[in-house]
Amino acid sequence: MSGIMDRFSDPEVVAQYAEGPPRSVPGYNGMQRMATLLIAERVQEDARVLVLGAGGGLELKAFAQAHPGWTFDGVDPSAEMLKLAERTLGPLASRARLFQGYIDDALEGPFDAATCLLTLHFVALDERRRTAVEVRRRLKPGAPFVVAHFSFPQGEGERALWLSRHAAFLAASGVEPDKAANASATIDSHLNILTPDQDEAILREAGFSNVSLFYAGFAFRGWVAYA
Ligand SMILES: C[S@@+](CC[C@H](N)C(=O)[O-])C[C@H]1O[C@@H](n2cnc3c(N)ncnc32)[C@H](O)[C@@H]1O
Repeated sequence: MSGIMDRFSDPEVVAQYAEGPPRSVPGYNGMQRMATLLIAERVQEDARVLVLGAGGGLELKAFAQAHPGWTFDGVDPSAEMLKLAERTLGPLASRARLFQGYIDDALEGPFDAATCLLTLHFVALDERRRTAVEVRRRLKPGAPFVVAHFSFPQGEGERALWLSRHAAFLAASGVEPDKAANASATIDSHLNILTPDQDEAILREAGFSNVSLFYAGFAFRGWVAYA
């Protein structure tokens, strides 16, 4: 686990971060845009949005550009990724408070919405359950929580198939095939990937309702759920 998370504190890796998700996550820009719409359909123009795993600032920038009245609390354990978020945001950074840490380091809110994009697959099962509970506790009743991360069936042969499809997608997006295979092997050994049913159960058990799948991009899935 530490190996893959160390990448987020390596300045050279972080310097290249912004190129990564659009290349390696199928439909990444569309997923961000859908997340923006799912928040917008429930909140006022002066919404306060909690962004967990905000490092890099890519979704903060997309949300801030789309809705000039929204303000943000961004939380991430990686100082380097938070520095990149500041750079990514540029002048929009005045609308985002950034906190180094985990969900417990977020203010109590209550927030009008929350997101956690491409992050929960780094978090072990029990901590993921606790994180979902702690996010919900910080939301106003009915507030949307948008998540997206690796999630696919884990049955006999299925995990290997989805990992190989992910490697094939990376290679088709221009990553050298051996690097794509290595990336997929690292994901296999270091990430906590659950089945879609387990992902939905975590949200429901944390007290969220109307858990709905809004995005499925090869090995990734995204849900919106309501506090
Ligand atoms: C792949 S990046 C995704 C960043 C951003 N959400 C995006 O979509 O580009 C994952 C981020 O999650 C952060 N992270 C890892 N574990 C976390 C946790 N338990 N709580 C919050 N953030 C975490 C990492 O430091 C890293 O910045």
